[in-house]
Amino acid sequence: MIISGDLKMIVNSNEMLRNAKKGKYAIPAFNFVNLEFAKYILEKCEELKSPVILGVTEGAKIYMGGFLVATKMIEGLVKDLKITVPVCLHLDHGTSYESCVEAIDAGFNSVMIDASKYDLEENIRITKSVVDYAEQRNVSVEAEVGHIGGVEDNISAEVLYADVEETVELVTKSGVNTIAPGLGTSHGVYKGDPVLSFERMIEISSRVDSPLVMHGASGLSEELIKKSIENGISKINIDTDLKTAWADALRIYIGENERAYDARKIVGATEEAVKKIVAEKINLFGSANKAPNS
Ligand code: G3H
Ligand code: ZN
Repeated sequence: MIISGDLKMIVNSNEMLRNAKKGKYAIPAFNFVNLEFAKYILEKCEELKSPVILGVTEGAKIYMGGFLVATKMIEGLVKDLKITVPVCLHLDHGTSYESCVEAIDAGFNSVMIDASKYDLEENIRITKSVVDYAEQRNVSVEAEVGHIGGVEDNISAEVLYADVEETVELVTKSGVNTIAPGLGTSHGVYKGDPVLSFERMIEISSRVDSPLVMHGASGLSEELIKKSIENGISKINIDTDLKTAWADALRIYIGENERAYDARKIVGATEEAVKKIVAEKINLFGSANKAPNS
């Protein structure tokens, strides 16, 4: 039986992603940078009974004050809002072993070690060291191979399509739980049309058991998202679509209420817009009503 607001619902991502892979839907991984984003995401996921991964980048960690702030905030929200859906707190694009250890020690249930800027051998070595630390603490690990393009947290990269053999080698030798191969997507707002390699996606998905992760999914058409889920993507990361909806709503409110000063009214004016995006993604990814007992 699930007790509302039970901290046992804050879990690693292994089971939710295994279920998603089996059921051919995707778990949404929404990034948050403050209390409001986290609260709106959790409330909408609870309403739609969707399991959720909440991502924190290293930049967001610095902005919020530290990993512990994120952990305690999510624990508080889960308890006070009586959340019953599985919630996974995840470090997004961790850039070093030390950063992953810090997040794990602060209570994160999942970490991404992004050592994709190194050669394969070094990527495997760093990823494996994180897996070794995480495994003993029941924490899931995601790795990246190839590159997601665009800019996130002021780090920019060109798209580099993942090599299938390298992807298989990284997964096998490191024992990582999930893998994010570069498949043509980019972080941030797309300037042109992304060119996704479904050929690689299909081959990688047939060669590795680990669920596949799609980064840079904001701005992708519904058709591309659906085709990606059909072809093996089980976790989809969304950041930019939430932020642009939030910023647009904020601009409108300030424009219409020039003399507003109550922070709750100003920031709160973004709630509907953020929740609309969360609901759209959940419905598109097929994760509604996939929480246990829903
Ligand atoms: O890691 C986070 C996501 O890949 C963000 O992608 O900028 O397309 O929302 P996005
Ligand atoms: Zn990403």
